Amino acid sequence: MAVGEPSLREGIRALGRDAFIAELHEERPLYKDASGFWIASRFEDVRAILLDHEGFSSAAMAGGPMGGGFPLLSDDPPRHSVLRGLLAKAFTPAAMDQMRPNIERMAADLAAAIPVGVEVDIVEKMTAPLPVAVIAGMMGVPAERAMDFKRWSNAIMGIQDNPFESGRLQMLMELRAYFADLAAERRAAPGDDLVSALTRVRETTETLTDEQVVGFCILLMIAGNETTTNLLGNLLSRLARAPEGWAALRAEPALIEAAIEESLRIDSPAQMIMRRATADVTIEGVAIGAGEAVMIYLASANRDPARWSDPANFDLVRERDRHVAFGHGVHTCIGAPLARMEAKAAMSALVARFSSIRLGETKGQRLAGGLLYGFRSLPVVFG
Ligand code: HEM
Repeated sequence: MAVGEPSLREGIRALGRDAFIAELHEERPLYKDASGFWIASRFEDVRAILLDHEGFSSAAMAGGPMGGGFPLLSDDPPRHSVLRGLLAKAFTPAAMDQMRPNIERMAADLAAAIPVGVEVDIVEKMTAPLPVAVIAGMMGVPAERAMDFKRWSNAIMGIQDNPFESGRLQMLMELRAYFADLAAERRAAPGDDLVSALTRVRETTETLTDEQVVGFCILLMIAGNETTTNLLGNLLSRLARAPEGWAALRAEPALIEAAIEESLRIDSPAQMIMRRATADVTIEGVAIGAGEAVMIYLASANRDPARWSDPANFDLVRERDRHVAFGHGVHTCIGAPLARMEAKAAMSALVARFSSIRLGETKGQRLAGGLLYGFRSLPVVFG
């Protein structure tokens, strides 16, 4: 263990993500970086910390662009359990079955609108609009407002890189105002959507303040589209760089699920999450003090050589083993079944329609910042 090593951000910048992660596993799987965070990168440590919600609080997830944090995500049990119960109904297998035909139809329509042999930005044509339309539908946001979601969500994520850019704060205010109005509307005339469900809870139990209903909406909007967009972009980029993968998926569409899981593992869309130690604790001989923040490096845990052989290799037929791209323990991503279903619908539609994929001439733009891993734009050409 080394104390005072470079911060995550500097390490990634200096070595590149892949080499930095490999170095962590070899030299310092649990260490305190220059900015005072503990960085946990071993699969077993990450899993143990995430299972121990009493020893490691999610209050550490508060802060960032939303100030007070998001309800649920930054709450610990017992409050977390109550809030999670509110959303659980929307993500049951039965709810997923009900949504599937519509999602498959939307994915097929988006794929049908993509021309053969012409460079297109697949983020604009598929990976952004599909998740945005789905989550907007679940929240009862009218279709014509759906792409405002994307603009707002980009702005909020961008705030982490440059909190003082005025256009972004302006958009954040627009977004808060929009959801405050929507919540008021649904309180007056409830429908069969998530926002109505949240406002109902507000009335009956006072569990959520108005401010928190808005925070909840923003959490769903960001969690429900940005990460899924990133999963699809990362996977399509891998396939565009290694064309035999596309051919394999066409020959055997059953491999699509494996490709999605392998992409989640190797290019985890949520790279890291935070916890705070509630008491002094020792992990594998390393003492972490009460109140200290621990960065849970999911992307690194998912490349632990103790768990996966040749972990930096994108391998469609590797022996599968559970990754932590959706987290672990009580906060495990509630939207994971939905994300998987959307990704499968999009990939199935694209694989059915096109015989090949390659990168376009224009270079794709990766997202800035270290928390989310994905593409802002990804020009590709389908054959
Ligand atoms: C590939 C796509 C996705 C990835 C990689 C992802 C990743 C994650 C991760 C790592 C967490 C755990 C956070 C923590 O433990 O602190 C989480 C929680 C959460 N995710 Fe996702 N997510 C995805 C898609 C979605 C979707 C589609 C939705 C909703 C429509 C969603 C809603 C949520 C919510 C509400 C939580 C908080 C759960 C809790 O605190 O109990 N996510 N997600």
